[in-house]
Amino acid sequence: MCRTECVLALVALSFGVAHSWDIAVTTGDQLEFYSNKTKTHNEGVRFRDLTALAYDAVHNMLLFVDKQSDNASIFSYNLGTKKYRSLVRRRSYENIQDLTFDPVEGKLFWTDTNERSIFWISMKPGSKNNDYGNLLIKMDDEIPRAIAVDSCRGYIYWTNINITKPTIERARFDGSEREVVVGTDIYMPISLAIDQRTKQIIWADDKEGIHYSIESADLNGKNRKTLLVGTHHQPNALTVSKDYIYWVDWGYKSVWQLPKDPPKDTEPQEITAFNNDLPFGIVANYKIEDQTRGDPECKELSSLSQNNSVINETFYIPSDVGLFCVHGIKVNGKSLCNCTPGYTGERCDISVCQNYCFQGDCSLTSGGQPTCNCNNGYSGDRCEVNACTGYCLNNGICTLNEKSEPTCQCLGRDHEGARCETPIIYTTTTEAPPKTETNQSCNCTTSEDQSAIAFSSKTNENGDLIEGCSAWDPVRDPVIMVLGILCGLLCLACAVLITKNLQLRRRPRIKKRIIVNKNVTPMTARPDQCEITIENCCNMNICETPCFEPRSTIRPSLLDSKPGKEEKKNLIANMEYPDDPY
Ligand SMILES: *[C@@H]1O[C@H](CO)[C@@H](O)[C@H](O)[C@H]1NC(C)=O
Ligand SMILES: *[C@@H]1O[C@H](CO)[C@@H](O)[C@H](O)[C@H]1NC(C)=O
Ligand SMILES: *[C@@H]1O[C@H](CO)[C@@H](O)[C@H](O)[C@H]1NC(C)=O
Ligand SMILES: *[C@@H]1O[C@H](CO)[C@@H](O)[C@H](O)[C@H]1NC(C)=O
Ligand SMILES: *[C@@H]1O[C@H](CO)[C@@H](O)[C@H](O)[C@H]1NC(C)=O
Ligand SMILES: *[C@@H]1O[C@H](CO)[C@@H](O)[C@H](O)[C@H]1NC(C)=O
Ligand SMILES: *[C@@H]1O[C@H](CO)[C@@H](O)[C@H](O)[C@H]1NC(C)=O
Repeated sequence: MCRTECVLALVALSFGVAHSWDIAVTTGDQLEFYSNKTKTHNEGVRFRDLTALAYDAVHNMLLFVDKQSDNASIFSYNLGTKKYRSLVRRRSYENIQDLTFDPVEGKLFWTDTNERSIFWISMKPGSKNNDYGNLLIKMDDEIPRAIAVDSCRGYIYWTNINITKPTIERARFDGSEREVVVGTDIYMPISLAIDQRTKQIIWADDKEGIHYSIESADLNGKNRKTLLVGTHHQPNALTVSKDYIYWVDWGYKSVWQLPKDPPKDTEPQEITAFNNDLPFGIVANYKIEDQTRGDPECKELSSLSQNNSVINETFYIPSDVGLFCVHGIKVNGKSLCNCTPGYTGERCDISVCQNYCFQGDCSLTSGGQPTCNCNNGYSGDRCEVNACTGYCLNNGICTLNEKSEPTCQCLGRDHEGARCETPIIYTTTTEAPPKTETNQSCNCTTSEDQSAIAFSSKTNENGDLIEGCSAWDPVRDPVIMVLGILCGLLCLACAVLITKNLQLRRRPRIKKRIIVNKNVTPMTARPDQCEITIENCCNMNICETPCFEPRSTIRPSLLDSKPGKEEKKNLIANMEYPDDPY
C-alpha cells in the first residue's frame, strides 16, 4: 500500500533535488528560478505575459497568471511532474493582481482589481467550481490587490489600495468575519505575505512619491514594526522564506532581499536585475516544517506535508480557440481579432491614441481615427508645433496672449518690434543704454565640476562680456602664476643685459699693441696710458690689453684653459716677480 506513495515521494524528491531553488520570479513569458543569487533555469515557452505567482510547498506546485493566454488565466505548474494545467477560464474584463493557495482546504484565491472582487476555486477532488471561479467577496469602494493565506488559522488577508482609505483586511475562507486588520498609517499597501514562522503579516507600502516601506505586524494587526524605509523602489510583490523577505521592484527592475529581523539601518541587497521585461510575481522556496515549527495551530498543515495529499489538477477548461481579443471580437473560427474602433494590434490591445498627441488630449473621430485637442500654444495634427519655438528673436521672451498667440518681451534696450527683430540705433554716445542690468558680482559654487565653472563667461543682452565665476583652480592658477613670475624674471634679465651691452659699447676700445719688455715699467704704473680697471681688463684679449691681473687673482686652471696662455706666461715672466713658477 505504501509502495506507490513511496515511489511517488522518491520521484518528487529526485525532481526537487534536480532543481533546487531559493526564489522563483515571473517576468515576461518566463518563469525563472534562482538559487544563491544566480539564475538556475527557466520555464514557460508556451506563455505570453506572466504576472501573479503563488507557491504551494505541500504539492510542490506553482500557480500563476498569464495575462494574455487565449484559453485560461490561471495555470498550475507541478515542479515534480513538470506538468502545466489550466485552472480557471478567462473573463473578458479581468485584472488578476495576486493569488494564493491554501493546501489545507485545497483552495485557490485571487483578487481581481477590475471586478473589485475576490474569487476562489477548490482543488479538492470531487469539488464543483465555476469555470471562471467562484465569487467570494464583491467590494464597492475597496480595491483588492495583494492576497495571502493563513493556512494554520484559516484566514485570507488582502490589501485594499483605494487611496482615500487604504486597508489590510482579513476574512474566513467563506468570506465571513471580514475585518480591517491595518487601517491607519498606510498609503498604498501594494504587496503582502504571511510568515507562519514569526506569525506576522509583512507588507510593502508604496508611499507617496519616491518613498516606500516594508512593515510588519502581528496577524491581528497589532505590534506594528517598520522594517525598512527607503526611496525609489516600487515593490510589486513580496514573499518570505525562512530567513529573508524578498520583493520585486519596478523602480530598479530587480529583486531585493532583506533579513527578516533586520538590525537598524540594514540596506536591502539586490539579488538580480532584469533588463527587458519587468519582473512581476515572486515566491520563495520554503519547507513546511520551517514554517510551522510544531505550532499546534499548524498541526493540520504539517501533517499534510507528510501525507502527500491529493488535489485535482485536471480541470476541464473549454478552450477558447484563437486569439484572446482585448478590445474587439474574434473573427469566427480564425486566429484574428476584429478590433473595436480606436484599437489596433494583434489582440486589439493598443489604443490608437497611445502616444499620439504630443501636447494635448486625444479623442476618436467617428471613424475611429485619433484627433488631438492641443494645449495652449501648440498646434499641428499631433500638437507637435510649439508656437513660441523660434518666434522671438534676440533672446526675447515668448509668452502667449489670451488668443494663444505668441508675443515677445524684448530683453535689454537693443531690440524692439513684435519679434524683437529691429535693432535700436542710438545716435549719440550719451544715449547709450545704461548698463544697469549688468551685475558683475560673482556667484561661485563649490561644485566639483570645474569645467562648468572654469572661466565660464557669457554675453548679456548688450553683447558685453560678463566674466563668470573664476574660482581658484588648483591646476590652472599655479601654472599661470609661475608663468607670470618667469616672464617677469625674463624681462628683468633682458633689461639688465641690454643696459650692460650698451655700457660695453660705450667703453673705449684700446687697439694699441704694446710690446712688453724686461726693461719697461709695468703698464699699471702709467696711468696716462691705461685707465682701465683690473676687472674690466679681464674681459679683453690679453694681447690687446696693456694691463695684467694682480698675481693673487691668477688661477692656474684659468690660465691652462684660456687661449692666449703663452702670451700671458711671457707677460708674467717679465714682471717684478721673476721667481714665480709661471
Ligand atoms: C553562494 O555563492 C557564493 C559565491 O558566489 C559562495 O561563496 C557560497 O558558498 C554559495 N552558497 C551556497 C549555499 O551555494
Ligand atoms: C477535477 O475538477 C474538474 C473541474 O472542476 C472536474 O470536472 C473533475 O471531475 C475533477 N476531477 C476529480 C477527480 O475530482
Ligand atoms: C475609495 O473609497 C471612498 C470611500 O472610502 C469612495 O468614496 C471612493 O469612491 C473610493 N475610490 C475609488 C476609486 O473607488
Ligand atoms: C495524515 O496521515 C495520518 C496518518 O497517516 C492521518 O491520521 C491524518 O488524518 C492524515 N491527515 C490528513 C490531512 O489527511
Ligand atoms: C488554447 O487552446 C488551444 C486549443 O485547444 C491550444 O491549441 C492552445 O495551445 C491553448 N493555449 C494555451 C496557452 O494553453
Ligand atoms: C548683483 O548681485 C548681488 C548679489 O546677488 C546683489 O546683492 C546686487 O544687488 C546685484 N546688483 C545689481 C546691480 O543687480
Ligand atoms: C547662485 O547660484 C545658486 C545656485 O546656482 C542660486 O540658487 C542663487 O540664487 C544664485 N545667486 C545669485 C545671486 O545669483
